[in-house]
Amino acid sequence: MASLEEAVDKAWRLLKKSKYAVAFTGSGISAEAGIPTFRGPDGLWKKYRPEELATPEAFARDPVRVWKWYAWRIGLVLNAEPTISHRVLASLEEMGLLKTVVTQNVDGLHQRAGSRNVIELHGSILRARCTVCGYKWSIERKPRDDELPLKCSRCGGLARPDVVWFGEPLPRGALEAAYREFSRADLVIVVGTSGVVEPAGSLPLITVRRGGSLINVNLEENRYSSIAAVNYYGRSTVFFSRLHERIRESVS
Ligand code: APR
Repeated sequence: MASLEEAVDKAWRLLKKSKYAVAFTGSGISAEAGIPTFRGPDGLWKKYRPEELATPEAFARDPVRVWKWYAWRIGLVLNAEPTISHRVLASLEEMGLLKTVVTQNVDGLHQRAGSRNVIELHGSILRARCTVCGYKWSIERKPRDDELPLKCSRCGGLARPDVVWFGEPLPRGALEAAYREFSRADLVIVVGTSGVVEPAGSLPLITVRRGGSLINVNLEENRYSSIAAVNYYGRSTVFFSRLHERIRESVS
C-alpha cells in the first residue's frame, strides 16, 4: 500500500500523462459529507434490509414506508455539502485532465461541486418519477410525511424515487454512455466504492483490460486493489486535499 505522498505523486503523474481519464465513484466519496455508505460497519444495509426499502416489490408493498426512508435520505443530501474530493474531481475536469465522472451515487454532489460531465448510473434521489405516465420532476426540499406517497402533478399517479432499485435495469442511456467512457479511457480513478454491485462494479475493469491504469482511493481493500497501479487506503478527503496541494504546486 502506498503512503499518502507516494500515492498522490503517482496519481498526479498518471493524471498528467493520461489522454482520457475517467472517475468512478461510490458512496464512500460522500461519506465525509455526512451521507451514510451502504456496507461497512455503519453502512445503511447494517441497519436496514435493502429488500424492504430498495426493491420494486418493497415499494409495491408499502410505498409510504419506502418514501419515508427516501425522504430521510433526501434531507441528508440537501443538507450536505460536496467534499474536497468532489471539488478536486471538478477542478481536474476544468483543467481538461478528467473527462467524465461515472457515479453510482444518487446525491448530486458531483454536479454541485461543479462537475459538468456526470453519468448517474443509479439515477437521482433528487428526482421523482410517475409510475403511471413516466413524468419526472426534481425534488427541491425534503417531502413532509403528510405529502407521502408523492403523487404526479400531471396525472395524479403514484410517484417513486427516480433511482435504480435492486433487480432493476440501469437507465439504458447511462450504461451505454458509461461503457463508451471506460472503453475510451486510459486511466480510471476509483473513489469510495466496494465495487460489489453489478453491472456498475465491473465497468472500471474495461479500462484495465484495454491496458489502462487504475488509481484506487478507498478506506479499505476492495475488488480493484489487486489490479490498481496505486492504492491509497484512507479517507478520500485526505488524499484529495494533498492532491489539491500537489496540483497547486505544479501550476504555480
Ligand atoms: N473515504 C474513502 N472511502 C470510503 C470512505 C471515505 N471517507 N468511507 C467509506 N469508504 C469506502 C468503504 O470502505 C467502502 O468500500 O467506500 C466504500 C463504500 O462501499 P459501499 O457502501 O458498498 O457503497 P457503494 O460501493 O457505493 O455501493 C454500490 O450498492 O446499495 C447499492 O445502489 C447502491 O450505489 C450503491 C451500490
